[in-house]
Amino acid sequence: MFETSTYIERRDRLKKDLQSGILLFLGNDLSPMNYPENTYPFRQDSTFLYFWGIDLPGLAAIIDIDANREILFGRDPTLHDMVWTGPQPSLNHHCLKSGLKESAAPDQLQGELKQALKQSRRIHFLPQYRPENLIKIQTLLGIVPAFGKNFVSKSFIKAVVAQRSIKSREEVEQIETALELTSAMHALAMKMSRAGMLEQEVVAAMAGLAEAHGIGASYPSIFSVDGQILHNPRHENIMQQGDIIINDSGAESRMHYASDITRTFPVDGKFTQKQTEIYTVLLNAQLKAIAAVMPGVEYRDVHTLACSQIAAGLNSLGLMKGDVSEAVAAGAHALFMPHGLGHMIGLDVHDMEGLGEDDVGYTDTIRRSHQFGTSHLRLARALEPGFVVTVEPGIYFIPALIDQWQAQGKFENFIDYKKIENYRDFGGVRIEDNVLVHDNGQRVLGKPIAKTVAEVEALSSQIL
Ligand code: GLY
Ligand code: MN
Repeated sequence: MFETSTYIERRDRLKKDLQSGILLFLGNDLSPMNYPENTYPFRQDSTFLYFWGIDLPGLAAIIDIDANREILFGRDPTLHDMVWTGPQPSLNHHCLKSGLKESAAPDQLQGELKQALKQSRRIHFLPQYRPENLIKIQTLLGIVPAFGKNFVSKSFIKAVVAQRSIKSREEVEQIETALELTSAMHALAMKMSRAGMLEQEVVAAMAGLAEAHGIGASYPSIFSVDGQILHNPRHENIMQQGDIIINDSGAESRMHYASDITRTFPVDGKFTQKQTEIYTVLLNAQLKAIAAVMPGVEYRDVHTLACSQIAAGLNSLGLMKGDVSEAVAAGAHALFMPHGLGHMIGLDVHDMEGLGEDDVGYTDTIRRSHQFGTSHLRLARALEPGFVVTVEPGIYFIPALIDQWQAQGKFENFIDYKKIENYRDFGGVRIEDNVLVHDNGQRVLGKPIAKTVAEVEALSSQIL
C-alpha cells in the first residue's frame, strides 16, 4: 500500500467532487473456476484498490458524504481461515492502513443502504464488470436487472476518471517497477525463441519469470507467429525459420500497476528484407507518434499521425498508392492497422475500461469515430501531464480482411491489391511502449527495450 494519507486524500477529493450522497464501492470476491473452493487467483477491483488500498476479497465500502462517514464492510479472519490459509491481519489493521475509523460486518451494508433509500438519498455506484457484483448491486438497491446500467452514476464515473487519469510520482514508479520485469520477459523471449520450439514454451518461461518474482501478468500474453491475429489467445504454433513473432506481454507491479509492451522479432535472429522494410515503416511511425505525445495534444491526432506515417511508408513500398492524407481521411490505411494507437495504462492495463471506454477516452465534444479502424481507438481526448498511455501502432496482413475489401473493390485507388498478394502470409508487426505525459513533453517509461532492427536482431540471435 501507499502511505495512509494517499488514500485519505483521494477519498477527500471524491467527497469534494461529488458534494452529496452516498458513494458505494464493491471490492471483488474470489471467483470459482469449477467449484466454490477452487478459485482463480484473486484480483481486487482497481477502483477499490485506488481509494481504499486493501487487496483482499469480500469487502465493500461506502462514503456517506453528508454525514462525513467512511465505512469498510468486511469480516475478521475466522479460525477456519487461520487453519486453512494461515494467520491473517485483522480488519482493524486494514482500516488503520487505509485511514478509516469505522468498519462493519458485510451484512450491515444492506441496512445502511435501505435506510438511505428510505430517505430518498442519492446512492452513487459505478458500472460493474463482474456478474456477481452486478447481481449484488441489483439486490442491494432493488434494481431490475435489465435496467441496472441505467442507474450508474455519471458524476461518480467522472470523478473517479479525473483522479485515476493523473498518475502521481509513486504510481509512475510502480509502472516502472512492472516494466523492469517486463523488459526481462521480452529479452528472455527474444533470446530463447528458436525454430522448432512451440510458442507456449516461451509464454510459459515469461510467466515463470514473473511468478518467480511473486508477480503476475497484467493480461494474458499475446505471443504468436500469427501476429496478424490482433488478440491471438493461442500459443500452439511451432516457430519456423523465417517467422516473425509478435510478443505483447506485460507484468504487474506488486501493487497491481500494469505494464504493456509489444516487440516484434525474427525467430532466427535475422529479419528478411521484406520484414525489415515493413518493420522500419512501423518503427518510424511509432517514434514519430511518441514524439507527438504532449500535453494539450488530442490523442486522436497522434493516432492519425501514426496512420499517416504508416500509409506514407506503405506507399513508398508500393502497397498503397495515391494521396496519403486522402487515403488516411478515407480510412484506407485501416486495412493494415485496424486498431487504435493506444490507451491509458495504470491499475488496469486498459485503464478504467470497466467504467466505460467512452467515459475514459472521449468527452462531450470529442466523440468516437464510426470509421473502421479508428472506431477502435480507446483514447481520443487531449493529453494532460500525468497521463500514462501506450503508443502501439501495428501493420498487419489479415487475409480475411484483404479478401473482403478486394471483393468489394474497396479503396482500389489507394490500395494495390496485386502487390499485397506477395504479403498474404507475412503475419504482422506491432511495437508498443508506455509513455508518461509530462509538463513539457513525454518520457518513455522503463529502461529501453531492444527496438531498432539492429538491437532486436542482436538480442534475438543470442542463444540462451
Ligand atoms: N495488450 C493488449 C492491448 O493493449 O490490447
Ligand atoms: Mn496495449
